Amino acid sequence: MKSKLLDLFCKAGGAGMGYHRAGFEVVGVDKDPQPNYPFEFHQADALEYLDQHWREFDIIHASPPCQAYSRITPWSGARQNHPDLLQPTIDALDRAGKPYIVENVPGAPMKNYLMLCGTMFGLRVFRHRLFVCKPQIYMSPMTCNHHGYSRNSVRGANRDKYKNGAFITVAGHIGNFEFAKRAMGIDWMTREELVEAIPPAYTEWLGAQMMTCLTQRGADLLKAGRNLPAMNNQSIGELPA
Ligand SMILES: C[S@@+](CC[C@H](N)C(=O)[O-])C[C@H]1O[C@@H](n2cnc3c(N)ncnc32)[C@H](O)[C@@H]1O
Repeated sequence: MKSKLLDLFCKAGGAGMGYHRAGFEVVGVDKDPQPNYPFEFHQADALEYLDQHWREFDIIHASPPCQAYSRITPWSGARQNHPDLLQPTIDALDRAGKPYIVENVPGAPMKNYLMLCGTMFGLRVFRHRLFVCKPQIYMSPMTCNHHGYSRNSVRGANRDKYKNGAFITVAGHIGNFEFAKRAMGIDWMTREELVEAIPPAYTEWLGAQMMTCLTQRGADLLKAGRNLPAMNNQSIGELPA
């Protein structure tokens, strides 16, 4: 029987897809309808759903909205329109007592986090995301593989300026949607869903680590930092058209 993972604040399932690939049965929850979510879905408030259903799951992932911390959210009033659900989510997960992973953007007030980037997985996307895991996942020192790529290597909204870019940052108005989807490893989302997604490669790796903590031996190995597959400095794939 598969371990069951609750995917809170799931949107169209970038994170959920990675956990599915790691071998979990995934159930998603979002306050808005998510017709493109590829797994079982419930439209509900995430923290209310967690409060009522946490016992049904082996492990819980949460991606509370990041606009409160995102560097691209305009300062003028927009931040106040987004409730800060990060700490209430962490508090609720601590109360539930199940293994969990909480994700957010650089700048969010998180402690003891892992930072992952697309270049650690051979993806053509510069996308830093922070993950707090309980139990904690340890990894050998790892850096982004941005070497040799200047700012001009990044395709942004301005396609003319960066038309020869080998990498992309997926945010705001994506200039080249097809390139962005390939760079993220996602082919089932709209533009608006893609800009908020986590590349599935991140959560496939995290999910594989967390899977081990569901067994006693796995938990011991995890504590000792002995179960981590090498993942840094993967070669970057061919440059797509
Ligand atoms: C950053 S997106 C999640 C992206 C997703 N993890 C992925 O990888 O594709 C955050 C989502 O949180 C949802 N959301 C915001 N407040 C919520 C709440 N109180 N309960 C449930 N979902 C909520 C939003 O509708 C949005 O879809």
